[in-house]
Amino acid sequence: MTFAHNSLERHDDAWPTPGGPQDIFAKEDPDWPLPRIVRGDDIYLYDEAGNRFIDMSSGPVASNLGHNNRRVVETIKDQVEKLCFAQSRVARTNENIALADRLAEVAGPGFERAFFVSGGSEAIDTAVKFSRQYAYANGDVTRTKMISLMPSYHGGLISTIGLGGDEVPIDVFREMTVVSEKIDAPLTYRPPEGLSQEENEDRILADFAAILERVGPGNVLAFIYEPVGGVASGANVLSNRFLKSIRQSCNSHGILMIADEVMAGAGRTGKFLASSHTPEGMPDLIVLAKGVGAGYTPLGIMLAPARMVDSLAKITGYPYGHTAAANPLSCAIGLAALEETLERDLVGNAERVGNYLQQQISALADECPVIGDVRGRGLLLATEIVADRATKRSFDGDISAPDRVRRIAFNHGLTIYGRRTNNGRFGDAIMTSPPLITTNDQVDDMVERLGATMKEFMDEATRLGAKIG
Ligand SMILES: Cc1ncc(COP(=O)(O)O)c(C=O)c1O
Repeated sequence: MTFAHNSLERHDDAWPTPGGPQDIFAKEDPDWPLPRIVRGDDIYLYDEAGNRFIDMSSGPVASNLGHNNRRVVETIKDQVEKLCFAQSRVARTNENIALADRLAEVAGPGFERAFFVSGGSEAIDTAVKFSRQYAYANGDVTRTKMISLMPSYHGGLISTIGLGGDEVPIDVFREMTVVSEKIDAPLTYRPPEGLSQEENEDRILADFAAILERVGPGNVLAFIYEPVGGVASGANVLSNRFLKSIRQSCNSHGILMIADEVMAGAGRTGKFLASSHTPEGMPDLIVLAKGVGAGYTPLGIMLAPARMVDSLAKITGYPYGHTAAANPLSCAIGLAALEETLERDLVGNAERVGNYLQQQISALADECPVIGDVRGRGLLLATEIVADRATKRSFDGDISAPDRVRRIAFNHGLTIYGRRTNNGRFGDAIMTSPPLITTNDQVDDMVERLGATMKEFMDEATRLGAKIG
């Protein structure tokens, strides 16, 4: 199948056509215009020529409920008629209170308060600012340093680029962002040669202790991490053992833990909070985003304990906000998405269908030697692409496997999210993370198409001179 390329004409003359799609800002690639999507339903997207694409990565791992969810769509219509906006500094709204109450119930003890913003990066920025305000207000004024993992991703704001573990944007913004101290992420597929997983974790925990020693534990504000990673680490899963040790160390030194569940939260990993999989390493703050708006509204959330929020409110409070924070339209949509997730047991479905999908893609590896690893939790899964499975060697610089696979996938009726990070230093992964409503039959369909995509990629890479296997 070839989809009808919508023609994206580029004009090289001095007065180009005004306007254009968002991707015109990306590095130019005129051979591969994106499909022009006009409609979505269930796990499918349709372009203007009527071609159907399976949304195999839920957009950027966000469309947890798929498209055209009737409950959410009807909620949007009703809410638009009732109330779109009342700013949270000048008014309380029922929608804000209802979503905060329900989230606190679902998240459980320790996460009684919810602060709403417009997306993941803004919510990460909020969690760091909230941590700092809390420390500052309590006289802990030297605490400013952050520790995070390499590789990792925590958002695209100037304030979050330095927290993330991707050297490419850090090189661009180094003097403008605050670059955190980094420890290695304990990558399950790529532990350093000769080390078991546990030995590698111990090595990294020793590095964590060395950083505290070097910068002074009283200067460290928080450790931020993804319990299950996204594109940067290819859904790498942190163990209970690892997070338990970090928790113990943070407890001894008064350091906060912030779990970035922007991608992993809201049920995707088979539990509502990804942190619940590692109960001995529970964080102080949890950041949610993509799945809570589920692609129907921009929404990011910081979950915090009442003990912190309420005691801070007696001193300085948290005095920073945004125009769109806790807007009633997004809160109403977030509540509808949450109820839909819970009533249809989509969290359980994520676990069951995720296990099946992981098995089926792993089985593809017999015919596709470029599939090196399939990992993650629930429906937060990534597939790592390698040039040589025995040595785990990635494709060379000029063959960016995630980009090529993503583009070939269009012709097999799949949209896939994946991009090269850290110049491929930690491997190349694509997100194989469809919506939480996906059925096993739909898995069979998408895996068959993924197999065809991978075979075409292997042919293309071989033509370009890559040696596979
Ligand atoms: C783990 C993680 N944190 C933060 C972000 C940033 O979220 P947003 O793109 O909504 O700003 C992302 C987005 O991909 C993410 O995956």
